[in-house]
Amino acid sequence: MKIVIRESADEASKIAAQHIVDKATPGMKLGVATGSSPLPLYKYLREARAEGTFSLRGSTAWALDEYVGIPADHEERYRNVLRRELVGDDRTGLFEEDLHTPDGLAENPHLAAAEYDREIGDGVDIQILGLGQNGHIGFNEPASSLSSRTHVDVLTKTTRQDNARFFDGNPDLVPSHCITQGLGTIMSAKDIIVVAFGETKARALKQLMEGGVSQRWPATVLQHHPSVTIFADKDAVSQLELLTYYRQISL
Ligand code: GLP
Repeated sequence: MKIVIRESADEASKIAAQHIVDKATPGMKLGVATGSSPLPLYKYLREARAEGTFSLRGSTAWALDEYVGIPADHEERYRNVLRRELVGDDRTGLFEEDLHTPDGLAENPHLAAAEYDREIGDGVDIQILGLGQNGHIGFNEPASSLSSRTHVDVLTKTTRQDNARFFDGNPDLVPSHCITQGLGTIMSAKDIIVVAFGETKARALKQLMEGGVSQRWPATVLQHHPSVTIFADKDAVSQLELLTYYRQISL
């Protein structure tokens, strides 16, 4: 596992964006996360697009997850969030039809999940991940199978509370179910980057890097992936036991 530690989320995100710009290949499959952590990274990708050093034209983007039953025009529907961030010529060059998200409005979400997994095929080229406070990636909550494929899951109370800030501060308005790429699906990505910022992520990041691999902390499965780079700020790394060493090897 590689690590990039910077003072601020913004500095770390700039380097994360450069990592993607450097590794991008024409027609690549880019795995995209929602939540607030990747937003500065997306801003830097848009800047790179404007400068002419990066483009997602002809590439495809694959969301990690989607709420089940959220109305099509809801601002927080992940498809709409990603469309605002990434779609269009003046954004990253990504065509709307090349943005893939699980169908949270499908009559049978279980079938939609299986179909989405089939479409992802043998994995994306680069996967961007955020980190839940409880160690989830995508929406793979504690007790998720470490080899699961895309499936319907139930959100924990913690996650609904965390995400209430996007739903008028009311956890009851956060959908209770989601379709999420499974941990096995995420692990099929060729290259993975994790963005983790702020003190609220310190405990989960400690588990991710230094804890035992366990479904109690789903992100620990990444310890088995050969190409993971963590981009973190000083607060997110505050609980790491080997911090002095990680600062030494930080890219
Ligand atoms: C949601 C998303 C995750 C994301 C997490 C953290 O639950 N499903 O993919 O990583 O939130 O969000 P944030 O970056 O806002 O802390």
